[in-house]
Order: sequence, then C-alpha cells, then structure tokens
Amino acid sequence: MCGIVGYLGNKDAMPILLEGLHRLEYRGYDSSGIATLDGKKLSILKAPGRISNLEELIAKKNLQGHVGISHTRWATHGEVTYQNAHPHLDASGRLALVHNGVIENYAKLRDQLEKEGHTFHSQTDSEVLAHLIGRAFDLLEEKSEQTLITALQDALRRVDGTYGIALVHTEVPELVIGARRGSPLVLGIGKEEHFLASDVSALVMHTRDVVYLNDYEIVALRPDSFTISNLQGDGRPYNITTLDGLAHDMDKGAYPHYMIKEIFEQAHTVHEAMRGRLSLEEATAKLGGLEMSNAQLRDIERIVLSGCGSAMHAAMVGEYLLESLAQIPTECEFASEFRYRNLPMTKDTLVFVLSQSGETADTLAALRESQRKGHRTLGICNNVASTIARESNGGVYMHAGAEIGVAATKSFTSQVTILTLIALLLGRIRHLSSSEGTKIIHQLETLPEKIEEVLRLHEEIEAIARRYASARVMLFMGRQFNYPIALEGALKLKEVSYIAASGYPSAELKHGVIALVNEETPSIFIAPHDAVFSKNISSIQEVKARRGPVIALGTEGHCAELESICDHVITIPSTPDYLTPILATIPLQFFAYYTALALGCDVDKPRNLAKSVTVE
Ligand code: G6P
Repeated sequence: MCGIVGYLGNKDAMPILLEGLHRLEYRGYDSSGIATLDGKKLSILKAPGRISNLEELIAKKNLQGHVGISHTRWATHGEVTYQNAHPHLDASGRLALVHNGVIENYAKLRDQLEKEGHTFHSQTDSEVLAHLIGRAFDLLEEKSEQTLITALQDALRRVDGTYGIALVHTEVPELVIGARRGSPLVLGIGKEEHFLASDVSALVMHTRDVVYLNDYEIVALRPDSFTISNLQGDGRPYNITTLDGLAHDMDKGAYPHYMIKEIFEQAHTVHEAMRGRLSLEEATAKLGGLEMSNAQLRDIERIVLSGCGSAMHAAMVGEYLLESLAQIPTECEFASEFRYRNLPMTKDTLVFVLSQSGETADTLAALRESQRKGHRTLGICNNVASTIARESNGGVYMHAGAEIGVAATKSFTSQVTILTLIALLLGRIRHLSSSEGTKIIHQLETLPEKIEEVLRLHEEIEAIARRYASARVMLFMGRQFNYPIALEGALKLKEVSYIAASGYPSAELKHGVIALVNEETPSIFIAPHDAVFSKNISSIQEVKARRGPVIALGTEGHCAELESICDHVITIPSTPDYLTPILATIPLQFFAYYTALALGCDVDKPRNLAKSVTVE
C-alpha cells in the first residue's frame, strides 16, 4: 500500500531508490516517482503506470545526487495521473515529500491553506502534508536541520490520520527525514549511508541492520549518523535488528511469476510451519511463542479470530478446527468490522489476529482495539518484527519466507497449518486423548508429502483452466471445513483473472445462486470424501440437471461417483476432514493462476490490488 524508499550516503541515490521501488512494487503500482538532491538542486521525475514508465524517463534524464526519496503509489485520493503521483512539493518548491497513508482532515487543512494563498496541483491528501510542513518551515527564521524537524513536528500535530513519510528540503541538503504514524517505516543502517523504506525488502540488498520505527516517531538520516525522536523532540533508545535470509527469498528463480513459485513452495512452507512444534512424546503441539501456560490456555472460554482477505478465510477454517478439535466456541470477524462492532467478549476470550504482512491497517486496528479492551491478543504473522508481530502479546510465526505475489498462497496454507496446531494444543489440554493427539500428529506429518502429490497435478489443472478461461462467472462450492476454501478459491480467481467468482456453502445453491447456473457457468465443487460428501453429490446433481459444467475436487480412491457425473475430477490424497482444506486449496490456486495466464493478466500485479494494505 504505497512503497517509500529514502537514501542518503556516498553513492548515487537514483539506482538505489529505483531498485528499492522494484522491491516494493507489490505494495502498489499505480504510479511512481523519484526526487534527488544534488547540493541544493532538487530534481523530480514521476510517471503514472508501472515503474518501467519511470525508468523510460530516467533513461532520458539521469538524476544526480547522493540524497533522495522515491515512491510507488496505490491510489487512495485522486486518480492515477501524473499530478497525483509522488513526490509532492510544498508551496516553495523546495521541499519534496512522499507519503503512505491517509490524511483524514486533509480537506479542512487544504481549505485553510488555500485561504492563505496556497495553490494545489493534485487531488491528493499527501500534497497538503507537503504544504503544511513547508509552511511551518518557512515561518521559522533559522533554516537548519533542527528547524526542519521542528516544522515537521508542528505540522504533524495538526494532522489526523495515518502516515509513513520521507522528505527532503533544498535548504538542508544533507538530510532525509522520515516519520511514522500507522504506516510502517524502517531505517536501514549502512557504512556512511542510511536508508529508509516502508519495509525491509527494499533494504536487504544494502544492509542487514535495521531499526523499526514506532508510531509518532521521527527519524533524521545524515550520512554518518541518525536520530530518532518523538513528536515532542525527545530522543529514544533503539534496538538494532539484524535481518536474516530475506534476499534469497525475494528471487523468482526459474519461475515466471512469484505466485507460481510460492504455490510450489507449499510442501516446504507447511513443513516449516510445523517444524519443531510437534511433540510425539506429549502428543501435542508446542507453541512457546503464545507465552501462555497450560493453566492459562485451559481457562480460555472463547476465541475470536480476525484478519482480512485470505487471512480471514484461514480464520474461518480455524473456527471449524477450534470448535471441532478443541471444542472452544470460536468466532471470526473481519478485522475491518471488528473495531466498529461491539462484539460481546467475555473476560476469558482469547483473540488471534492473522496477517501475512503483519502490517495490514485493519488487522492492526483490530489488534489494538482488542488489547484496549484488555484481551490477550496473539498474532499469526509471516513477517518477523512487523508491527502486528511486535505489538501482539505473543503469537506464532509462519516461517514461510517472503511472499511477494499479491495473491496470498503459501501464507494461507501456513496459517491453516498453524491454526491446526493451536487446535491440537488446546484440544489436548481439554478433552483430546493422547492417542487422538498422536493420530493428529501423524496425519500432520504426512502433509508435506501429500502436498507434493497435489503439486504434481499442475498440468492437468492448467488444461482445465484454459478450457474455462472464457467464462464470465464461476461458482465455488464447499461445505464445512471446505466452505472457507470455496471462498478462498473464488477470491484467488477474482484477484488474478478478474472473472466474477463467488464462493458458497454447497447447500446454499438452491437458495438463490442456482439462478446463475447454465451451460456457460462452471461450478467448482470441493467434494473430498468427508462427512458431507453425499450432500455435495446432491448439490452437484442439481447443477448438472441444469447443464452447468462441474469441476470437482475429490479424494483418491473415492472418485467413481464424482467421475460419473462431473465434467472433470481433480484427485487429492486422502486425509482426515480437518486437513482437507490445506490440500484442497492448492488446486484452486493453480486454477486461478493458469486462468489468469490464459487471459494474459499480470498475475503478480493484479489490477487495483496491493499486497500490503496499510490504509484503513
Ligand atoms: C490484501 C491482499 C490479500 C491479503 C490481505 C491481508 O488485501 O491483497 O491477498 O490476503 O491483504 O493481508 P495480510 O498481510 O494481513 O495477510
């Protein structure tokens, strides 16, 4: 959700800023721009569309300077135009700013500034911020690093909303300033150089030493030093975090897209989600990161799971898992709704927030609201040291490696795996016997191998996907554990191929959705050989009776009936009902990927989406 990069040091800023933008492009790719300072000379280039458009401009006019900021945009205020692209200038044209977030009172501030004679060139809230800071600086007599920071503090006190910003000013050319409230920002520490970025992926090629900024903090970068202070100007002690292993993860390797690379990683990532966390001796899962004793875990009366997008679908699988394996009443709530609802939560309600990035604004808001109400709130995150991971009271890391494809794939199966471990742990503290726990562990241990089998189906699924790629509407049906998988399959298809896809509990078909069924509307049924298999068969019959093409996911050894009525049957290995979601998701990910490919869609950068949504 908008990517920011800042640089100041002994090298040319432009290539570093541009490379950082490529790394952050998954946060938004509506437009991009760069500003560099060469002494007091400020140069700006920006372009709507992909970063390649900006590169074309740079090829014609190289940007000089060892100091600069850059931005890749996901539009919130104002269309995708040259004027609305960042960096934005203040009224004097000497301050350039890039912004991620939403300034909620921008209209009022803009009115006030216009009355004072300010002219705005864009429709963005960000330009208002640039003017506000520039104005505060212009009012101060002395032009120094300190007065620019003071001006920023003054301006930010007038602002409602969220921001991660980076700015430069021609009056203090050896300085880049960043500030954060609600939108992530991280400082990279190099040798005689410093970096600023929305996330570490833009820094790992240059440094492993980073400092994560907290809300209401300002960082001032100079070539050989930096300072971190709050809005009142007080400095704070900081911890330098040393990053590990990310550079390799960000490589696409031999794969044409991140999405397909990440789909193929799932045997490994599901294994990583379980590694060291299963104890055959105690027939349970060991999740030290929860930081709760067995006595505390036993006292839990209720669980609330919250997340957005695919994370919400994983949470919905979690609801089935926790209720059936641990028999704890569980509720899922969209993170975006959580803080605006007054969900009845008893004293002993435990809250989990799920987020691959650990930066999703809605999920972070749900975490904070839950903590404000005094509930222990745990995170299930992939990005180590992300804001959600840092602010939660404990949690479980996915260890899935960087997920770059905008459509979540491996993070989803990792989340479901972790929720299964949590259900096992809580079940074993309550009513699950040791032999039942052992059985679950043995089943979990076979998952990576079974995932490998599912991954071998890619060519078969590609052929089916190509055949139906021209459909305008597709339906995804599943029941019980696999109802959320129907939602996830439909979401994947919508996200990357733009086909109108909807997921439903299979039996809901007859209550309305069936009106969409005809020869041109394919239905995908997730129909493993589980407790509701025969019910799914009845629903498939209802579709076939109306000549709707049906693609079914069935269980090896139990597909004869499906084969007799469906147009295509994709066979997944046999596994207990509660583990079918993990195996059933993968064919649907392939289906979405190959459909998008057949339609010529930009799989890793789907229209209008961003990987990490850091605005509310
Ligand atoms: C965005 C992405 C989705 C993702 C959701 C939650 O909307 O496009 O693919 O599932 O955010 O992301 P998170 O990082 O919190 O898991």
